[in-house]
Amino acid sequence: LSTASLRLPITGAIYDQSPELALTIAADRTVRYSLVETGHAFEPDGPLSEKIRAAAGTVLVVVDDAIWRVQRNRINRYLAQVAGTYRVLVLPGGERNKTLPQALKIIAAMDECGVLRRSTPVIAIGGGVVCDIVGFAASIYRRGVPYVKVPTTLLAQVDVSVAIKTAVNLGGFRNRIGSFWPAELTIIDRSFLSSQSPAEISQGLGEIFKLALIKSECLFDRLEEIPTDWEPDWYVSGAAADLIRLAIEEMAEDLRSNLWEETLARGVDFGHTFSPLIEMRTAQLGHGHVVALDCLLSACIAVEYGLFEYEFLPRLVAVMRRCHLPTQHPAFADADLLWESLIETRKHRDGHQHLPLPSGIGKHTFVENLDRRGLVRAARLMGGLT
Ligand SMILES: NC(=O)c1ccc[n+]([C@@H]2O[C@H](COP(=O)([O-])OP(=O)(O)OC[C@H]3O[C@@H](n4cnc5c(N)ncnc54)[C@H](O)[C@@H]3O)[C@@H](O)[C@H]2O)c1
Ligand SMILES: [Zn+2]
Repeated sequence: LSTASLRLPITGAIYDQSPELALTIAADRTVRYSLVETGHAFEPDGPLSEKIRAAAGTVLVVVDDAIWRVQRNRINRYLAQVAGTYRVLVLPGGERNKTLPQALKIIAAMDECGVLRRSTPVIAIGGGVVCDIVGFAASIYRRGVPYVKVPTTLLAQVDVSVAIKTAVNLGGFRNRIGSFWPAELTIIDRSFLSSQSPAEISQGLGEIFKLALIKSECLFDRLEEIPTDWEPDWYVSGAAADLIRLAIEEMAEDLRSNLWEETLARGVDFGHTFSPLIEMRTAQLGHGHVVALDCLLSACIAVEYGLFEYEFLPRLVAVMRRCHLPTQHPAFADADLLWESLIETRKHRDGHQHLPLPSGIGKHTFVENLDRRGLVRAARLMGGLT
C-alpha cells in the first residue's frame, strides 16, 4: 500500500462509490445422525463394530477413566476382535477436567494415529465430559472429522446423546468455547449404568426432571412412579427402559427444530439459567443437581408471576426427593450470586433473559423482565419449601 492510500478515510473512500463486487452467499446443509439402543455396545456384530470395522487406519478410542477402571479387559478384548489397529486414550471424567488441554491431548493422539478426514471416526466412550471434549476436538481437527459417542452415564444417555453441541470450559465459565458438531452415531447401552453410584444416577434424573417439567407431563408421571428405594441396577433393568427411551425421544423432539439454536428462547434451557455459574463456583454440586435446583427456583419465579400454581410446588419437591435430588442449597439463597448468574446468562441469550418458566406440568413460557426483587422473593419462597 502507498502512504497516500493508508491515509484515506476508510468510509468515505470505499462506501461512497457503488461496489464493484457485492455477493451474498447462502447455503443450506442437511444434518443426519443416528442414535441406536443396544443391550451390548461391544457386541461383535453391533452398530459400533460396524463403524470400527469400516474405519481406515488406526482407530482412536477415547475412554473415560471410570469405565477403563472397570472394563479395561473387556474393551481391549473387544477392540482386538473388531479393529485392525487401534489406540486407546484414557481421559478423566468430571467437570474440572473439561478443559482445552484435554482436547489438545486428543488432537495430538489423532495426529499420531493418522486420522483421515472422513474415514477414521474417533470413538468416545464415557460420560458427558469425555463425549463433549471428544466432540469438540473432532469438530476442530482439520475443521471437522467424524466421531461416534458411547455415553456411559444416565445424564449423558438422555441428554448429551441427542445434542449436537460440544464444548470445553474456559476461564471459570462452563462451555465457553465449543461448536455444533453431531456425532455420526450414538450408541445407548444401559448396562453401563450399573457401575454408577446412586448420586451419579440422580444427576441424570435431574435432567429428566427438567425435561418432564417443561415439556412432558407423561414423563413427569413416570418419574412419580419410580421406586423410592431404587438402586442403579433398576435403571439397567427393563423396568426403566421406557422412562429412559421417553426422555431421549422428548429431548430429540425438542432439539430437532432448533439444532443450531437460531432461536435463543429455548425450553430446554430450563434449569440452565442460574445453574451454569453456580456449578462452576460450587464444586460439590454436580450438573444434574444444580439444574434441578435451578428448575425449582424457576418454578418459584413462575409462582411469583402467577404462571404456575403454588399447589404444584410440593409435588415437584416430592418428585425431586424420589429422584434423590437436592431441594435446597445455600447458593440458591445468595441473591448476589443468583443475580450475577442471570446477568451472565443474558449474554449467552444475546442480551435477553429468555427465562423459561413452567406454566403447568409439562408446559412452559418465557419471561423477559425478572428484576432483582422478584428473584429474591422467589429464592425466599424456595427456601421455605420443605
Ligand atoms: N453436549 C450437550 O448438549 C450436553 C448436554 C448435557 C450435558 N452436557 C455436559 O455433560 C457433562 C455432564 O455429564 P456427566 O454427568 O456424564 O459427567 P461426567 O462425564 O463428568 O461423568 C461423571 C463421573 O462419572 C464417571 N463415569 C462415567 N461413566 C461411568 C460409569 N458408567 N460408571 C461409573 N462412573 C462413570 C466419570 O468419570 C465422572 O467421574 C457436563 O459437562 C455438561 O455440560 C452436554
Ligand atoms: Zn444440562
